Amino acid sequence: MLVNFNEMLAKANKEQYAIAHFNINNLEWTKYILEQMNELNTPVILGVSEGAKKYMGGFYTVYQLVTGLMKDLDIKIPVCLHLDHGSSFEVCKEAIDAGFSSVMIDASRYPLAENMAITKQVVDYAHSKQVSVEAEVGHVGGTIDNLYGTMYQATLEDCLMLAKTGIDALAPALGSVHGLYRGEPNLNFERMQEIHNHLSIPLVLHGGTGIPMDMIQKAIRCGICKININTELQVTWHNVVSEFVKDHPNIYDPRKVIGSGEQAMKDKIKALVSAFTYASCSNKKEENNII
Ligand code: 13P
Repeated sequence: MLVNFNEMLAKANKEQYAIAHFNINNLEWTKYILEQMNELNTPVILGVSEGAKKYMGGFYTVYQLVTGLMKDLDIKIPVCLHLDHGSSFEVCKEAIDAGFSSVMIDASRYPLAENMAITKQVVDYAHSKQVSVEAEVGHVGGTIDNLYGTMYQATLEDCLMLAKTGIDALAPALGSVHGLYRGEPNLNFERMQEIHNHLSIPLVLHGGTGIPMDMIQKAIRCGICKININTELQVTWHNVVSEFVKDHPNIYDPRKVIGSGEQAMKDKIKALVSAFTYASCSNKKEENNII
């Protein structure tokens, strides 16, 4: 059964580690992520962008795909199916009505009052169905679904205001960007810590790809407990598959071509999750079972 992210993020927030949000794009990726996370016995958030929804057919297809795989693969971990960057109340409602257990409303392109009004509308509808809600303030920027946006940072005041809508998690833009970084990422840890000191709700780091592990771990110490990863799995998969195609020009079975990236993706997932889990954990005795 799908769950919303409240319980998994509350635990992560309290114990200072991060839950991985991996974007899914197709059957194979969903299967690899579920299998690997189940093996690690660690909860996961599967993020679906509007572009991925369109690619896969629609929210209902995605819901059926994920729940079908969970049943067929006997997945035992908590799985949250989450709309990533929902652009309007209507899109969030469509995802919720199709069975998603969580949504992100991203009205960060609007002035704060409008962002708050749209977010509140989503919160009211989502909470009536036990669906969790994430919202963004400031603007993460970079490239997602081939759309480019300019980054600007969230202020503490904006975060406190947006939190009043009753959201379950907040994504404050603090220097991270979607897609590949040009140069070293420059995260505003000071403000992250300040927001965390004033707000008890879980904080989300978007644009997790390419952020060095020491920065990821510092972000977790500053209150981040959900980290979104999309491009990193794409690059990992693409590097291996393009080599495979070059080396095997006569293999055209899509199961073999697509599947040639499976192990590399699983290895990458394992490495990321272990960094998120043990980040800042030098004084913790727990094993890798964080359920
Ligand atoms: P990356 O593509 O940079 O990993 O960002 C993913 C993300 O933040 C999805 O919301």
